[in-house]
Amino acid sequence: MKLSPDHRQALRDVLTWRRDVRHFKTDPIDAERLDRLRAAMDLAPSVGNARPWRVMQVQNPDKRAAIIADFEAANDEAASKYSGTKRDSYMALKLAGLREAPVHLAVFTEHEPDAGHGLGRQTMPEMLAYSTVAAIHTLWLAARADNIGMGWVSILNPASVHGILDAPATWSLTAYLCLGIAQDDNDTPLLHRKEWQENSPTRWRTV
Ligand SMILES: Cc1cc2nc3c(=O)[nH]c(=O)nc-3n(C[C@H](O)[C@H](O)[C@H](O)COP(=O)(O)O)c2cc1C
Repeated sequence: MKLSPDHRQALRDVLTWRRDVRHFKTDPIDAERLDRLRAAMDLAPSVGNARPWRVMQVQNPDKRAAIIADFEAANDEAASKYSGTKRDSYMALKLAGLREAPVHLAVFTEHEPDAGHGLGRQTMPEMLAYSTVAAIHTLWLAARADNIGMGWVSILNPASVHGILDAPATWSLTAYLCLGIAQDDNDTPLLHRKEWQENSPTRWRTV
């Protein structure tokens, strides 16, 4: 299939308007839209075609509450590493939409997948986790194309999340994701807008 300039522009729009979302509406996401997102992850690349991502949709209120408590503890700990005005700035940031987001996805990497037969990861075993990240980014773009916002929450203790969700021993947590309808759209990252860290161009050189 030869893609047209319209496709290129459509992709450009998705890339431009994809944001890490922390401010969600509480409206539910229907099963059909979630299925579309799952199907998008099916299209992601992976080392040796191992497809090591494992997704747990977290709906149980007790488990969600435990995840939120873990985030708050980890966030307080992170804040304590800063001092003065930087600490005040950090504390003023909203770094997760866990309470409002209707959909929580814990995305793990299976470190002993049968699929792929080890191809491509003998010297760089981290390729499995990188493959999971590729699937997560595929999900992120597919969600945005479906007008669903997604936020990546990394301020968590992975061992705690692993325990709360009773994940298998061969899995490690790669991401905890919040999905839902964004309260607003923006073409500029929140951390840039809040003057925490401005966007800079990709560093690229020819050698
Ligand atoms: C690996 C990874 C982990 C992240 N963890 C968090 C997080 O814990 N909390 C948060 O608010 N944003 C998190 N983000 C979002 C980044 O802050 C965001 O991508 C960046 O500021 C650029 O904004 P944009 O995604 O809207 O372009 C994470 C993003 C990535 C790729």
